[in-house]
Amino acid sequence: MNLKFPKNFIFGAATAAYQIEGGRRADGKGESIWDTFCDIKGNIDRNETGEVACDHYHRFREDVAKMKEMHLDSYRFSVAWTRIIPDGDGKVNPKGVAFYDALIDELLSAGIEPMLTMFHWDLPQALQDKGGWLNPESVKWYTHYAEVLFDAFGGKVKKFITFNEPFVFTDFGYVTGTFPPGIKGNYRNKLIAAHNVLKSHGSAVRLFRKKKINGEIGITLDYAYNCPATKQDKDVKAAARANEFWAGWYFEPVVLGRYPEHAKKWFAERGLLPEITDDDMQLIAEPIDFLGINHYFVNYLEADETNDREGTRTVYPNVHHTDMDWPVTEDGFYELLKYLQSVLKVPLYITENGVSLNDIVTLDGTVEDYDRIDYMKRYLSKLSQAIEEGLDCRGYYYWSLMDNMEWAAGYKPRFGLIYVDYPTQRRIIKRSGEWYRSLIDEKNKV
Ligand code: GAL
Repeated sequence: MNLKFPKNFIFGAATAAYQIEGGRRADGKGESIWDTFCDIKGNIDRNETGEVACDHYHRFREDVAKMKEMHLDSYRFSVAWTRIIPDGDGKVNPKGVAFYDALIDELLSAGIEPMLTMFHWDLPQALQDKGGWLNPESVKWYTHYAEVLFDAFGGKVKKFITFNEPFVFTDFGYVTGTFPPGIKGNYRNKLIAAHNVLKSHGSAVRLFRKKKINGEIGITLDYAYNCPATKQDKDVKAAARANEFWAGWYFEPVVLGRYPEHAKKWFAERGLLPEITDDDMQLIAEPIDFLGINHYFVNYLEADETNDREGTRTVYPNVHHTDMDWPVTEDGFYELLKYLQSVLKVPLYITENGVSLNDIVTLDGTVEDYDRIDYMKRYLSKLSQAIEEGLDCRGYYYWSLMDNMEWAAGYKPRFGLIYVDYPTQRRIIKRSGEWYRSLIDEKNKV
């Protein structure tokens, strides 16, 4: 197995504000849609909430010390909009800014590069009350928030990510209804929200250039990727078509400057498409410095003409499954990397990849998560191979730095390199965290 990475390759770990911070009302923070969504019984497994989570808001220095102990090159975290501007569009809250400023300083003095995600799903409730992403004003609200972040952290933070996984929060928010605002089956609203989110992204990138911020800006898209189950032409075409309806709907506008053709036609014929102008498309495709991709698994598909939308059906591979029943499909990850290599003109970062396992603390106080090490080896060996074959990938962020609130699934899934014992908030670096450190050390020796 080949795990060779260039010395300047960045190994990090990622988190998101709502999943780890807690401090729901600390220092003037406003309410986000996740705060209010979790208050409604039945929305989250065991009715858990992020009210306390990993209490990172109060323990961030301890957490940065653990990152340092693991020799991480970089840490990807998100900013809670409601700490910075509690009502979303009004006055800035200096205490919220001070929190992230202190976190960034702590990272920098530990020699860890901060990567800042500007939006990881926790929209201010006050903005949701005005229609949220369905309101065309959302582009202005977001750009104002972006400006506050650039003014506060520009220069210190060298990598900004405008959005995390727009597919997931618009689809789960308006189609499956499992995320706030919890609407089911409204494709039209999903597409309107997605369009406003993509425009907000472009608008922030434009502002970043205008303000000549010293650093780089990109976006993180999830790419679950649909692979053909066979090499037959009909399956290859069907899988490509399916991608248009999923990740492609976000990827193609940002990277190629257009919505995917077949899916666009399909939505238009059903009156589901929002108004899309040439100016919008130019804004959305505003050149970025890098692309972040989050990836966990692929779906294998074969052609099925009885499915009039994507024309596919799923074929289930006989592979290991994680604690959340996600398949472990590193060969498909390699296929995705090859596709990205064929279309991308900017450097790639894997901004999330990881596995949830049923981790336990042994009597000796250790967490022996060898399956996680195996998962990382499988995916990282494919990444290393693709890089050797010419893919310009500059970094990998394991999801997640520590166990945390896995959204609607609550605290049961454990993704971390660090185990969190929630009742005591004790942290334990798992075997995987030690293995990751040795991989980072090995790379730095090269
Ligand atoms: C991503 C998300 C993360 C995390 C991860 C594991 O979709 O960005 O916040 O929850 O999945 O499910």
